[in-house]
Amino acid sequence: MGMVTALVPGSFDPVHLGHLDVIEAASGLFDRVVVAAVQNPGKDPLFVLADRQAMIEESVGHLGNVEVRSFSGLVVQLAAEVGAQVIVKGLRGVTDFDGEMQMAQMNAAVGDVRTLFLPTAPALAHLASRYIREIARGGGNVGDMVPPVVAKRLEERFTT
Ligand code: PNS
Repeated sequence: MGMVTALVPGSFDPVHLGHLDVIEAASGLFDRVVVAAVQNPGKDPLFVLADRQAMIEESVGHLGNVEVRSFSGLVVQLAAEVGAQVIVKGLRGVTDFDGEMQMAQMNAAVGDVRTLFLPTAPALAHLASRYIREIARGGGNVGDMVPPVVAKRLEERFTT
C-alpha cells in the first residue's frame, strides 16, 4: 500500500492526555500522522487555533512522524490537502459512538475518505476538554489530565 498518512482531527481545546494517547497509538500504526486543530463551527473556543496548535506541537515533540496543523475548513478537504488515506478518531465509549459514526459516514459520503476508530486507554476515558476547561476555570487542579504546557496555559488564562 506504500506510505500511509493518517489525519487526526479534533477541536483540541485544549489537548489532553486522552488525545495524546490516541496520537501516540496512531504514530505507532501509521507511517505519517497529521494532527490538526480544526475549527468546529458549532463551538465557541477557549483557545484560538494557533494556540491549540502550539500546545499540541509542544506535546508531541517526541514523536518523529507526527506533524501538527490548524485548519478552519472541512476535515475532508484537509485530508485531501495533506494526502491522508485515513481519518483517525478516538472513542472513549458508547457515548462518543453515535456522533462519531455519523461524522465518519458523512465524511465518507462527501470526501470519499474512510475513518478508523481507536479506543482510548480505559484509564483516560473520563477526560474531556469541556470539563477540563470548566475545572480549570473554577480553580480545580487539572495537572494530571493535561500535558505540562497546557496546565501552564490554563493557569495563565484563569489566574491573571
Ligand atoms: O474533538 P471534536 O470536537 O470531537 O472534533 C470535532 C471536529 C473538529 C472533528 C468536527 O467539528 C469537524 O469535523 N469540523 C470540521 C468541519 C467538518 O468537516 N464538518 C463535517 C463533519 S461530518
